[in-house]
Amino acid sequence: MSSRLRPLVALLPLLFIQGCADFHRGDPTADAGTPSGGDGGGAGDGGGDAPSFATDAHPLLLSGCQSCHRAGGAAGNTGFVLTGDADGDFQAASALTDTAAPAGSRLLRKASGAGHGGGAIYADGTPEYQTLLAWIAGGAQP
Ligand code: HEC
Repeated sequence: MSSRLRPLVALLPLLFIQGCADFHRGDPTADAGTPSGGDGGGAGDGGGDAPSFATDAHPLLLSGCQSCHRAGGAAGNTGFVLTGDADGDFQAASALTDTAAPAGSRLLRKASGAGHGGGAIYADGTPEYQTLLAWIAGGAQP
């Protein structure tokens, strides 16, 4: 006795094509005099990994910003206060980034002196600015 069981093979084209790669590269629509000549190619660093907060951004913020942006500092009453703790500082800093428009990030605008009580710490085009920009453009990862 052989029962012919013919499996019903439903060939459904289950192709969920996700068209949104959401990979906004470059296109820094900086409004304040864009001297943009070098489209941020490979600024050294080697390796294809996106910059991380702990390794790349945090040290710059501690050395350049914490003198004012700390409890009791000149900017201690703002929404951006650094403690030196990587996790907490990451929360504070990443909240001020816009990965869809990295150059327009509040963190970067302030750092470069746009309407910033602390003036221009890392001016547009400096290596530090580029590092912070790359960190944000890379997704502002921890
Ligand atoms: C000399 C002191 C000083 C330094 C150094 C300084 N700041 Fe500030 N910052 C201020 C002051 C004062 C304010 C408050 C007035 C204002 O909003 O600009 C402020 C405000 C800010 C704000 C707005 C905070 C909020 O509540 O939204 C951000 C973001 C910021 N700074 C980023 C930075 C970054 C990034 C650095 C380092 C690259 C930095 N600042 C270094 C003095 C400083």
